[in-house]
Amino acid sequence: MKRTILFFTLLLTVSLASVQAKTLIVYYSYTGNCKSITNALSNQITADVLEIQPAEKGLRYEANNYALGTQLLNAIKANPNNESSYPAIDPVSVSISDYQNIIIVTPLWWSQMAAPMQTFLFNYGFQMTGKNIGLIVSSASSGISGVEADCKRLVSNGKYYSKSLWIRSSQVSIASSLVSQWLQQINFTDNNISDAMKIRVSDGTNTITYELNETSAAKSLYQMLPLEVTVENYGNNEKIFYPPTEVSHGADCIEGDCPAGTLALFSPWGNVVMFYGAASRYSGLYILGKATSGADNIRQLTGTIRIETVGDASGIHSMKADNTDEASLGYTLNGMIATEGQKGIVIKNGKKILVK
Ligand SMILES: Cc1cc2nc3c(=O)[nH]c(=O)nc-3n(C[C@H](O)[C@H](O)[C@H](O)COP(=O)(O)O)c2cc1C
Repeated sequence: MKRTILFFTLLLTVSLASVQAKTLIVYYSYTGNCKSITNALSNQITADVLEIQPAEKGLRYEANNYALGTQLLNAIKANPNNESSYPAIDPVSVSISDYQNIIIVTPLWWSQMAAPMQTFLFNYGFQMTGKNIGLIVSSASSGISGVEADCKRLVSNGKYYSKSLWIRSSQVSIASSLVSQWLQQINFTDNNISDAMKIRVSDGTNTITYELNETSAAKSLYQMLPLEVTVENYGNNEKIFYPPTEVSHGADCIEGDCPAGTLALFSPWGNVVMFYGAASRYSGLYILGKATSGADNIRQLTGTIRIETVGDASGIHSMKADNTDEASLGYTLNGMIATEGQKGIVIKNGKKILVK
């Protein structure tokens, strides 16, 4: 799949690629979490990316116990229909009508949508009538219903995906896997998927997406899907499984070195190999494709795995909500787990507590 990432900011405007993506990801990030989440998302779908930046630079929203952040949100709350209540952002150059899907990635501030993202949606939300709207929110630990309410106020006629994705700051390192599960749960399709054969392998917790090559062996495997099989360990760099029927392979099949992330058929035994460590070329080891996301998850695959074509609605199965961890002393507003002796505001069980 050809991926097009465009950053539309005043300072940086990259020309449109020949294929216009149908999905826009718009994000704001103060401390970098939403930016990382956006990177994980844009690696998995075809999308243009728009970053929102406050017009006033160098502001410290967290200073004096988050006084400035609070002040900005209070101004919006007091007068939500007045443009002057919203903090200025850098001008953006985006044509909302070009997109069918809009995914908003925003931090939570005081249980509300971060103020700069509210400004963008105040300016453009009315153009999003009938668009598919996805919402991804990052917070330290507060629940995201207030952000969902802000989004619905500002984009009142969007067609919302069934579920928003909440990623705590402590979960940003696994954003790729959380995003991948969410895309499956909402049955996201980005409308301009190429003809490439894409498959998803998952044990319900760990998910990997592969793009297959055009060989007869890859097509043979693709035609068998969906499959549920047992994954096995092999050596110290492979997970393998045996398809129930033989994967046929013709003269077009390719032998070659297999870097981590390669999917291959070991034809003498008939098993499929998912490499998480590199392997050298081996006779009868035919390359089927490569991982396009989640390659870091291969090593953890265990038990029964489901293999299916991407876009298959039946892909929603045994999903685990990953929002259950709670540090015993709560979280700081930066998303760090609070430690003994932590002073200032701490969020515990969704409530802000001032620890003196
Ligand atoms: C002004 C401000 C207010 C915040 N309020 C909360 C809050 O009420 N609850 C919470 O769990 N996290 C709160 N946070 C933490 C952020 O939601 C969290 O760190 C998020 O991951 C930041 O995303 P970013 O790195 O993309 O800016 C706040 C952060 C800031 C800057």
